[in-house]
Amino acid sequence: MALITVTIDGNDIQVEPGTTIMNAARKVGGDSVPPAMCYYTTLKGSGGKCRACLVKVTKGSTADPRPMPKLVASCCTMAQDGMVVQNITSPEVLETRNGIVEFLLINHPLDCPVCDQAGECDLQDFAFEHGKQSTRYEFKRRTYEMIDIGKDIKLHMNRCILCYRCTMVADQLTNERVHGVLWRGDKSEISTYIQKAIENDFSGNMIDVCPVGALTDKHFRFRNRVWFTKPVDAHRDCSKCSGNVVLWMRGDDVFRVTGRKDEYGELKEFICNDCRFHHYNTYEWVIEGPRDIKRQSVISANHYEKETKPLPEVLYAKLDNSKWNSFTI
Ligand code: SF4
Ligand code: FES
Repeated sequence: MALITVTIDGNDIQVEPGTTIMNAARKVGGDSVPPAMCYYTTLKGSGGKCRACLVKVTKGSTADPRPMPKLVASCCTMAQDGMVVQNITSPEVLETRNGIVEFLLINHPLDCPVCDQAGECDLQDFAFEHGKQSTRYEFKRRTYEMIDIGKDIKLHMNRCILCYRCTMVADQLTNERVHGVLWRGDKSEISTYIQKAIENDFSGNMIDVCPVGALTDKHFRFRNRVWFTKPVDAHRDCSKCSGNVVLWMRGDDVFRVTGRKDEYGELKEFICNDCRFHHYNTYEWVIEGPRDIKRQSVISANHYEKETKPLPEVLYAKLDNSKWNSFTI
């Protein structure tokens, strides 16, 4: 198939026809990748809800070079041959994202210090990169009681940004959809049908796809902070899923089990509830080694690594044991 050429922030990239601007930008990488709060590659129909990924199209295509009149959602707009796109290089896009963060935070509580998602929250990262320090909103925020959504998952609706990812997991990965979005407008809420519990083998993936701390793992809640744990790749023989997971360990204890996310925070493989919630002993897993967290995050920061370069002479001289020519911090 003949490839098409798109220019994103001045970088030319060749992609297959039918590729979205978002996925073309992901091929370019770095700062040219728009943030995504609702798009999720493996969930059909996702995207188009949060507007975090808006970009400016300054040239529509070679055939029709007119610029697009408004910013477009890069996750659901197809790239065209000769298209020119601005992401991080457009002041208009940056200004708009600033507004989107403010909008998403209108009802979202700033309870990061007690939220289990802190450190791996897409909204936290988005607000850090594109938000302001203050809000102009002066009204009472929308509040809900917390709900037990099945025996393993807690729903904290106050934090939900209505990205619809969890409802797509329920629709596309499980046999029976029993939860969705009820009501409309600012009354919209994620809920189970008459509080019916979600009991099926893949419902735990809703926790992994939730970009904020609205859906959390009841086994992990308030037991640790992610930045104190060490992510380790592990696998086991499982008849329901691939069994490829990440164990989040502190010392020898496994605090939680999740699927393996890529640099965009997306799972390529969904794991079953059996692997996620019922195997917390290391002997039940084949440990592969430390997980390389590719996304920029507090989890990937400050992990001490073996220094391979020789020590500076002045420091070397201070060490008693002169046989050291490298050190572990
Ligand atoms: S609960 Fe989480 S995944 Fe579900 S719609 Fe709300 S923010 Fe999205
Ligand atoms: S990621 Fe594109 S609209 Fe949400």
